[in-house]
Amino acid sequence: MSKPKFYLTTPIYYANSRPHVGSAYTTIVCDVIARYKRMCGYEVAYLTGTDEHGVNIERAAEKLGVTPQQLVDKNQQIFRDLWKLLGISYTNFIRTTSPEHERAVQTLVRRTMARDKDLPPEKRSIYKAKYEGRYCIYDNLYVSDTPEPANCQICGRPAELISEENYFFRLKAYEKPLLDFYRANPQWVQPDFRMNEVKSFVEAGLKDVSISRKTIKWGIPWPGDPEHVFYVWYDALTSYMSGIGYGEGDIESVRHGASSASAEKGAPSGGRGSSPSALGALASEGLSGGRGFSPGVSSDASGVLTPEGNAEFNKFWPADLHMIGKEIIRFHAVYWPAFLMAAGLPLPEKIFAHGWLLFEQEKMSKSKGNVAYPEPIVKAFDELTGAKVGNDALRYYLLRETVFGQDGNFSREALITRYNADLANGLGNLASRTLTMIDNYFEGVIPELGPANDAMEENAAHLIKSAITYYDRFQFSECLQEIWQLVSLADFSLAHEKPWKQITEPNGKELVGPLLYRIAAAIRVVSVLAHPVIPDATRKIWEQLGQTDDLDDVDVKQLQWRGLIPGTKIGKLEGAFPRADKKELSERIEKMENEIRNPGAAVEPSARANKTDASIEPAAASTAAPSATAATSAAAGAAAAPAPANAKITIDDFAKVELRVGVVKTAERIQGADKLLKLTVDIGDEVRQVLAGIALAYAPEELVGRKVVIVVNLAPRKMRGIESNGMLLAASAGADGKPVLCTFAEDIPAGSKVK
Ligand code: MSP
Repeated sequence: MSKPKFYLTTPIYYANSRPHVGSAYTTIVCDVIARYKRMCGYEVAYLTGTDEHGVNIERAAEKLGVTPQQLVDKNQQIFRDLWKLLGISYTNFIRTTSPEHERAVQTLVRRTMARDKDLPPEKRSIYKAKYEGRYCIYDNLYVSDTPEPANCQICGRPAELISEENYFFRLKAYEKPLLDFYRANPQWVQPDFRMNEVKSFVEAGLKDVSISRKTIKWGIPWPGDPEHVFYVWYDALTSYMSGIGYGEGDIESVRHGASSASAEKGAPSGGRGSSPSALGALASEGLSGGRGFSPGVSSDASGVLTPEGNAEFNKFWPADLHMIGKEIIRFHAVYWPAFLMAAGLPLPEKIFAHGWLLFEQEKMSKSKGNVAYPEPIVKAFDELTGAKVGNDALRYYLLRETVFGQDGNFSREALITRYNADLANGLGNLASRTLTMIDNYFEGVIPELGPANDAMEENAAHLIKSAITYYDRFQFSECLQEIWQLVSLADFSLAHEKPWKQITEPNGKELVGPLLYRIAAAIRVVSVLAHPVIPDATRKIWEQLGQTDDLDDVDVKQLQWRGLIPGTKIGKLEGAFPRADKKELSERIEKMENEIRNPGAAVEPSARANKTDASIEPAAASTAAPSATAATSAAAGAAAAPAPANAKITIDDFAKVELRVGVVKTAERIQGADKLLKLTVDIGDEVRQVLAGIALAYAPEELVGRKVVIVVNLAPRKMRGIESNGMLLAASAGADGKPVLCTFAEDIPAGSKVK
């Protein structure tokens, strides 16, 4: 019998920089769902990929002196490598610069236009007009449709003025169909409060949106009008279809404007998904919700949903779940369904918008410099514990610590604490003690349970049910708490019944056998239930319990506590989660993170303390550096090494360094760091915290109110666990390199540029 299908997607990630823990979060969550669904008997298609077009990619490439293609080629590989390290079981990876994606985007727009070709121009979903407005290049968001200055509502930065002729999508015409659709499918967006936000947004009135650009070169050419390239969201959203084979079928049918007719062939009865053009239908029939655009369309007997899709597309589309971060809900829950309605294609079944992972109370983002990277976490855990546990540690922490859907805080300390408490001292310790006793007392063979009617069995049965319910509702933290109840229960039994004492009694084996069976059976249940979240350790424990089926394929819905067969020979014993030393591990992670931020410049945190502050960090070093050249080269990211005295840089190299006038607001000493001062400096539009190695030359009191020169675009770094976000310039004098701060004789406001 063929398996039911389940198709889920992550957002496709911008390939202008490397992934951080925030980006890994969505991918890990989707991996947990994919693994869980496979264990429920589904055939899963799991799509992820990289979003490789747009101005920010062009700019990032320009800054690095490479072509956009070179940049995205390199970065997409970093994403793939990370997903491999994190054991992500995706089945499809889409790149928006791939020819198959380009073809799909052009096919979708052609299909949409072909469906409208008999309608009067003012009724067509796609039309050409002049656009003037403000656009945020960082978030790819139209901030306002008027030329007046405006700041981006997501990142707060000033938006750029755009004025050009564009292709527009008539989003306004989809207000009613969208609202009707939401009404008919009230749980389409999850959590519920997000559905309400989306509804209110549409109720407030929609504006047509531009879906092409003339000024941008880095994008997919508009079919038949190559001066235009697609605007990133039309391009990006289509990846959910191109990633599974849309555009790989009969494209000619679209090219020749026949798609409407042929698509009808695949329309299931009731006209879902392949109704006549949404606008045409709206105009002529007054089409409303429940008809035309419902999610969950099924294909007809021939399996054909659309001739432009290949067999995989026709099998898996529509997506069962788009998992996204809350900041991109509008594009997914308003634009995307409207684009699909206009093309006459079925809508996704569900959209889940999760919260942000915060770092020091702010959304983790590379541009703000407040990021944690997954690779150092995984590698440092593996190296220091001598076992492959880092991946599970990170996955468990991310799912256990945060109530899914809401924002959560990321902290390295909490991650290690959680690992030691729940994994090392919890499940790992329980498994290792139990299996060692089975090995010692029962020659490595699972003992009999005996006739006892067992409370543990009842508990396990109840818990399996509720864990499944939590998984189905994406309540991962609650699910893990539930599963760990069984760990606590088993732990309690061991502590209470003390099998190591009982075994010394004359009938020791009869007493201890059933107890160890009960606990081993509980551990087996935990291995299955927790497998989607901690796949590496559960597999290890599973094999140590002597289980031979592939754990990935175990049917979670058939799971029984008594599934553990007495007489089974256990496997080779090996600790699943060795304990981690918090301080050592935290320092190792920090060191590795610094190496990512400043390749080649990182110094062992503990080693730093022994060196002079001037040699610790580019930021502090600059204040004691022999010349301004050293400061600028460090600021430009060229490691901490000063450029040779006679080396020449171009004006473009120099322009990379943003220097501004700052005014010191506060200054204080740092305990245990003789040479460092912690300053807050007003740089015009914000107040920055900067550490400077000038404590031997300046008393904190004499610095307050003083004007300084600060490098503002230097990547933030931590010293002694304190973040420094900028660098003061100083000259150095004498053999001891005493720093003398650069300052101004004239009056000059904070924030003025220095060039
Ligand atoms: N390219 C678009 C998405 C197009 S989908 C058709 C984009 N990319 S992104 O790289 O900026 O963000 C992708 C996703 O990464 C977010 O939606 C979110 O799922 C995840 N996250 C990025 N930072 C995050 C946190 N700090 N916390 C949680 N998730 C985060 O938007």
